[in-house]
Amino acid sequence: MRVLISLTIVWTALTALTPIWAEEKTQAVILVAYYSETGHTEALSRALVEGIESVEGVEAVLRTVSKASDEDIRRADGILVGTPVYWASLHARVKDFVDRVGQVLDEDTHGEGRTAGAFCTAGAVASGKELARLSILAAFLNMRFVAVGGLELDGFGNLGAEATTGPADPGLSEVELEAARRSGARFARITAQMRRSPN
Ligand SMILES: Cc1cc2nc3c(=O)[nH]c(=O)nc-3n(C[C@H](O)[C@H](O)[C@H](O)COP(=O)(O)O)c2cc1C
Repeated sequence: MRVLISLTIVWTALTALTPIWAEEKTQAVILVAYYSETGHTEALSRALVEGIESVEGVEAVLRTVSKASDEDIRRADGILVGTPVYWASLHARVKDFVDRVGQVLDEDTHGEGRTAGAFCTAGAVASGKELARLSILAAFLNMRFVAVGGLELDGFGNLGAEATTGPADPGLSEVELEAARRSGARFARITAQMRRSPN
């Protein structure tokens, strides 16, 4: 009987502590929200997620902008937003999502203490990629997020992961995917560091 009571006590204590351990193991949660009509931006999102998940203790949540819930937004320590370039800017559904982030977060603090980043794919090398990413980053800066850029394989920084998908450079190359993985890992490291430091 005593053994049974002891086992019950140990079991109850373990069950109570499990959420605390899980919480301590997860240092940061990053929402990767994207829109993709023909799959390119989705493929880039998946490479970013691979990079994020290579950093211990950081959880990636991958969603299309329409499937990302208000709770996904509130829970995120960092948000990465991906768009195909449409007429030298971000896609309208991605703009809707960015606007929703501003509505969902507490309007006194908005993105304070959180990170944000942008990524895109486009048919041409230079026909709106910079403008699309800057538009996303500017919105997040206005919401008091800390903007984090991406990494090129040669070590330079950029405005966020990107890929050219049109006839000059069809699909996503391994170089573009690897740069996105490294960008995701960098975003994850910085987000986890920010989450550990008091605001
Ligand atoms: C309506 C429309 C407008 C576009 N405008 C641009 C543009 O201004 N600049 C550019 O480089 N590519 C442009 N593209 C090409 C897309 O950005 C490119 O194909 C992108 O990789 C698509 O991403 P997805 O496969 O995730 O939908 C446009 C495509 C469409 C359908």
